[in-house]
This record gives sequence, C-alpha cells and structure tokens, in this order.
Amino acid sequence: MPHVITQSCCSDASCTYACPVNCIQPTPDDPDFLTAEMLCVDPTTCVDCGACVSACPVEAIKPERALTEAEIPFLEINRLYHVRRAQAGVVDRPLLARPPARLQVRASAPPPSVAVVGSGPAGLYAADEILTVPGARVTVFERLSEPYGLARFGVAPDHRRTRRISTQFAQIRRSRGLSFELGVDVGTDVTRDELLGRFDAVIYAVGAAADRPLTLPGADLLGVSSATRLVAFYNGHPDAGDATFDLSGPRAVVIGNGNVGLDVARILTTEPDRLAETDIAPAALAALAASELEEVIVTSRRGPEAAAFTLPELLGLASAPGVELCLDPDVDVAGTKLEWLERLPAAVRAGRRRVRLRFGLTPERFLAGPEGGPHLGAVVFSTPDGVTETVPARLALTSIGYRAVPVPGLPFDPESHTVPHAAGRVIDPTTGAPLPGTYVTGWIKRGPSGFLGTNRSDAQETVRSLIEDHNAGRLGGRQPGGSTGVPVAPNGDNRERAPMSAPVRSSRHA
Ligand SMILES: Cc1cc2nc3c(=O)[nH]c(=O)nc-3n(C[C@H](O)[C@H](O)[C@H](O)COP(=O)(O)OP(=O)(O)OC[C@H]3O[C@@H](n4cnc5c(N)ncnc54)[C@H](O)[C@@H]3O)c2cc1C
Ligand SMILES: NC(=O)c1ccc[n+]([C@@H]2O[C@H](COP(=O)([O-])OP(=O)(O)OC[C@H]3O[C@@H](n4cnc5c(N)ncnc54)[C@H](OP(=O)(O)O)[C@@H]3O)[C@@H](O)[C@H]2O)c1
Repeated sequence: MPHVITQSCCSDASCTYACPVNCIQPTPDDPDFLTAEMLCVDPTTCVDCGACVSACPVEAIKPERALTEAEIPFLEINRLYHVRRAQAGVVDRPLLARPPARLQVRASAPPPSVAVVGSGPAGLYAADEILTVPGARVTVFERLSEPYGLARFGVAPDHRRTRRISTQFAQIRRSRGLSFELGVDVGTDVTRDELLGRFDAVIYAVGAAADRPLTLPGADLLGVSSATRLVAFYNGHPDAGDATFDLSGPRAVVIGNGNVGLDVARILTTEPDRLAETDIAPAALAALAASELEEVIVTSRRGPEAAAFTLPELLGLASAPGVELCLDPDVDVAGTKLEWLERLPAAVRAGRRRVRLRFGLTPERFLAGPEGGPHLGAVVFSTPDGVTETVPARLALTSIGYRAVPVPGLPFDPESHTVPHAAGRVIDPTTGAPLPGTYVTGWIKRGPSGFLGTNRSDAQETVRSLIEDHNAGRLGGRQPGGSTGVPVAPNGDNRERAPMSAPVRSSRHA
C-alpha cells in the first residue's frame, strides 16, 4: 500500500532525502522543483516503509488506507505526476547525488559568525544550514516580538498541519550556536555597517512585507481592503490590531485567485465553530461569528487554464467544513485543475456559505453604495468581450500578490522588487560587483512565490556562496572582539536567547 502526499505539502523535500528508494519527486536539484505545486510519491516504487512520514514537518504524508474522503484525489494526483514524468522521459536523479554535501570550512579559517535578518522560513533554513559548519555561530534578528514570519503570521489558522512547521523551526532555534534577538528592526535599531562590524557576514531574509497595490478609481472607499490586511488580522499580527472589515453585507469580492485569495475566501466562509478550534486571533473570530456574509466571489482576470491557485489548495477549499464551492455553468473545466473537483463526493463540497470562482473579470473601479457616503457598494469589472459587469459587495479584498520594500543600505530593483544578487550574493547592479559579506535569501531574493519549504533549497544556495567566500577570504572581517549582539534592543523585555546548551536537533543535524 503506497504512501500519498496530501494537501499540506510544503515542498521542503525532507521526504525526498528520507526515502530509501528515491520514489518522491521532484527533488530540489530537479528543474521541475520550483514550479511543481507539490511533491508526489510514485506508488509503483514506494516500499511503504514510512520513512517519509517521519521526515515530513507538516504531516502531509499518509498511507493510502488513512486517506479521508476529501484526500482520495491525492492518490491519483501522486500517481499521475509520475506517469506523466515517465511519459516525458524524465530520469529521476540517483540517490547518491543527495542530500547536498556538507559544508566544509578551510582548516585555517575560523568558523564563521553570521547575522541573519528575519526569522521567517528563509532565515531559519539559512541559520540551520550555516550551523552544519562545526563551531559556526548565528544570531537571528527579528523586528517582531514573535518569530517565524509568514509561517506564523501568514499560514491560515485552519491549516493546522502546515502550521506544525513551527515545531521544526523551534528545533532549529534550539541549535547550539544560535541566538535570537527579537524586537530588533535592522535598518532602524541597528545598521548594516554595525552588523558587518560585529559579524563576518549578514544574510537578509526579510521577506516581502507589503502587498501589490491595485490603484483603481474608488480604491479609497471604506470596504476596499487587501487580503494581506485580513490575513494579518486573523493571524493576530501586531501591525493589524486596529483593522476592521465590513462583514455586514451578503457578499464579498476577492480580486486575484492565488492561494492567498483562496485562503481568505475559505476563512471568510468556514463555520466559526470550526475556526474556534484553531488559533485564529480572538478579534477575528468574534468578527467572523457576527458575519452576515453568504458568499465570497473570487475573481480572476484570466480563464481557468491560468488559475494562480494550486490544485492542493483548490481541493482544500472545496472540502472546507461548511463551504460550498461553485462554478458558473459556462466555465469550461476541461484540461484544467478544476476538473479535479468532479472527483470529490458531493457531500464534501456542500456547505452553508458559498465561494464562487469567477473567471475573465478584470477589475475597473470600485463604486460607492446607493446610500451615499464613502462606503463601497459594488465592484465594476470588464469581461473579455467588452461587457461591463457590476458586482454588488460591501467588502472587496485585493489579493494580487505581495511585494518587498527596499532594505536600508542595500540596492533594490524597482521592477522586480527584489535585491539584486548572484547566487545569493548581493551585487551592485551597476558594476555587478558583490557587496562584501552581504547576502539575501527567501522572498526578498526571488520574489513572493513558492511554499514554505521552497525557501530551504534557496537558503542552501545562499549559504554555499557565503561559505565559498569565507574560504576564499572574501568576507569583510568583523572588528576584533566585536560583540555578536546589538547593544540595546528597543524593548529589552522581549529579547530572548536560545539556550546554548540545547542539543542540535534540526532536521539535518539529528
Ligand atoms: C498569506 C500567506 C499564506 C501562506 N501559506 C502557506 C502555506 O499554507 N503553505 C506554504 O507552504 N506556504 C505558504 N505561504 C508561503 C510562505 O509563507 C513563504 O514562502 C515564506 O514565508 C517566505 O519566507 P521568507 O522567510 O522569505 O519571508 P517571511 O516569512 O515574510 O519572513 C520574513 C521575516 O523577516 C522579518 N523582518 C522583515 N524586515 C525586518 C527587519 N528590517 N529587521 C528584522 N526583521 C525583519 C519579518 O518580520 C519576518 O519575520 C504563504 C504565504 C502567504 C503570504
Ligand atoms: N497553501 C499554500 O501553499 C500557500 C498559501 C498562500 C500562499 N502561498 C504562496 O504564496 C505566494 C503568493 O501567493 P498570492 O496568492 O499572494 O500571489 P499569486 O499566486 O501571485 O496570485 C496573484 C493573483 O493576483 C492576480 N493579479 C495580479 N495583478 C493583478 C491585477 N493588476 N489585476 C487583477 N489581478 C491581478 C494574478 O492574476 P494573473 O495570473 O492574471 O496575473 C493572480 O490571480 C504563491 O507562490 C502562493 O502559492 C502558498
């Protein structure tokens, strides 16, 4: 009986390293890895040993017999991935090529001391990788008083298995040689130059904090907000404590159908009793319990063949408790992800509130309501055949992607909203020369795409560059005797250091 990877797959590839028969693909060294929506077990070669189950940080892998009704399509999704791979003549990489070789520091070089800015997935995977070098030390600086970035403040509260990734991060946090400085905003409380005076290198893993704005007429009406803000609200992000959302109307519109769009639609329509079992922020639960919403329309300017959501998240939405997922009858699902909905039993898809997926709707403007005043009454869209469609709603959430903000002291590409780099080394965009001792990883490096685990191979690339530079004597060299912490944290009461005596227990150290 084969094992099956299900919805919460985070693509960190721990399972591929654990599998003794190489039956989980794609691996991080495969060209498919960055675009694959999840990893898949080949049922014809799986030996049912369960090694992948123990390795998976988000409990995404189950034996076939343990699949729930809603998870049954994943058996076929896993199988078909491998059938198509074989049909395309793709050859799986040999096991001997993995995992990546351990990092080696030149014998005459002291172990590096590195500052990591940001405690999200990219920062923690980078720290974990550096600490494979014996004697290396890492200090993680985090502007918030709670660590783990979007793994804590982005992942939806009802994605409870995915949220268990924080257990892996907590293990990394207890690693020998790692310390944390919470409540320190690098750029405000401490500068890059100060960090370079105290550490051999600085890795920026600051993510993409802002949302892409949708500047349309009426965007300043009350009731027009962003998915980013709602996500921050339901996850109790300290920057969203005063957020409010008008849930008094029967309908909300979400613009953009990426996974974040699906997340917010699902949270807005899931039964409050089910949300109460999660660690959703109490203020958000209270607002949702009083909500009058009957339906959420998730819109996309393109057709179903170009849907930005991933198949696992679509199936997750369709099977959310109390949520009915609807499509217009004229939507041609043939050959698209939406075809998979037909494999779910009708009972799984049924619910009291509706999420309706609409396609081919380009937002044009937001209209004030008929009662007058600065409150949203409707969203106006244009369709591919030039018709205008007005959708009444008191709440509209733009969900058109995240965007990084410039990092003080670093170059910034205003087009891609990322820091220019070569294999993680920050470079001067005019000369192409690397800035000594300065690196990037995660969303600030490659833009706001990918899953939690995608940041692991990304961080590994950056750390390989850093260790190469260390071995070649290219790091700036900190001041002799320079301390490895900031002298004063703005709110010293929440400063925290991991116990240095704790055993090293991150996934690859164990
Ligand atoms: C709403 C949402 C839901 C998601 N859900 C899932 C999911 O269910 N499954 C999945 O696999 N992927 C999910 N993802 C994707 C995943 O969260 C990202 O791939 C990942 O978090 C990016 O990691 P990062 O470390 O680059 O950025 P982040 O996670 O954003 O971490 C950046 C960290 O840097 C800190 N920081 C920023 N500036 C400074 C500064 N100046 N000084 C100090 N610290 C600073 C921030 O506070 C933050 O803690 C989701 C993404 C979003 C937006
Ligand atoms: N469970 C999970 O695994 C999970 C959960 C949440 C997020 N994530 C990941 O996090 C990343 C970010 O997700 P996201 O949903 O924020 O972004 P996204 O996947 O990039 O989706 C953005 C959506 O906005 C639309 N859009 C962009 N510009 C627009 C405009 N001007 N007008 C109208 N629509 C516009 C896009 O449509 P076009 O395609 O037409 O441009 C697309 O539908 C993704 O990689 C996602 O997979 C993962």
